[in-house]
Amino acid sequence: MEACSDVAMRTLCYEQGAALTYIEMIRAYALTKKKQRFLEKLDPSPNIRQGLQLAAVKVNELKKTLVMIKTKQQEQDPRFIHIETIDLNLGCPSPGLISEGGGPALIKRANRVKELFETLRSTWEGPVSAKMRLGMTQMEKEKKIYLKILNVAEEVGMDWITVHPKTVKDPSRDPIDLRALQECVENTSTPIIGNGLVTDEASAQTVLKTGVKGIMIARAAVADPFIFKRLKYYEETGKKLQQPTKQEYEQAFKRYLELANQAKIPQYYIEYHTRMFQLKINNQWDHFHSPKTMEQWT
Ligand SMILES: Cc1cc2nc3c(=O)[nH]c(=O)nc-3n(C[C@H](O)[C@H](O)[C@H](O)COP(=O)(O)O)c2cc1C
Repeated sequence: MEACSDVAMRTLCYEQGAALTYIEMIRAYALTKKKQRFLEKLDPSPNIRQGLQLAAVKVNELKKTLVMIKTKQQEQDPRFIHIETIDLNLGCPSPGLISEGGGPALIKRANRVKELFETLRSTWEGPVSAKMRLGMTQMEKEKKIYLKILNVAEEVGMDWITVHPKTVKDPSRDPIDLRALQECVENTSTPIIGNGLVTDEASAQTVLKTGVKGIMIARAAVADPFIFKRLKYYEETGKKLQQPTKQEYEQAFKRYLELANQAKIPQYYIEYHTRMFQLKINNQWDHFHSPKTMEQWT
């Protein structure tokens, strides 16, 4: 999550049972151009599992970036080692990225996406995936352009595709389209991960019923990293753990600050999470209550 998933937050989620965490989206070309602002977002930890999400429009820029990451890994550069998997962004609603033809603007370009997937597959030795929406608009969704992306993903042998079953134009408070998510699952042998509005055991079960192989959680994890532990417990026992107490949220916040200080992460991440934890501690959290970054992403 852009401006959120610093190493301290990812570690906290991992300690609470998240199977895999992601470093926030970075433009592929920003890495090869060695833009400091983006390089400092690369903070993989040896103690947790994590992937990196790249936004790329051109095949050569993606290839160059992947080769650079691999070279840096061989040189044991701490900013690059421990990145296990690479994800391609086909969902970011940022007008800047869309105007460059990236993120969800690529969903209607199945041929280009196929080339990008092939580049990922042939250049990166670990797992490769993409995260996509159903299209930019309702009209694109109705044309089912997302199914074409799933076809090419299957042809290329992508390891999984995460689907956030909404278009860019859908208001953030609208529910996710579970039928479209199920349609994705039924139309491909590529494992589908479902994403959107999972906040508790009931919403997780609703998404799992579509047949997805896993769930990706964004907003609910930001202020409530215990969600992974609760969902795992429910999966294993069919029973619910109690909601975390105010004291437990306070302890989680303390742990976050401890990890953030150890890792010396930039101050803006700490300020963001402090606001989020305060909301949860004071019982004022609402899935949609959010600073600007959240509004623009969902
Ligand atoms: C602050 C913020 C930052 C986000 N950054 C990213 C990102 O870097 N890459 C991405 O694929 N999605 C990003 N998203 C979208 C989420 O991954 C997710 O698709 C969306 O929030 C819906 O899931 P949720 O209901 O679990 O939050 C971001 C969302 C928010 C709120």
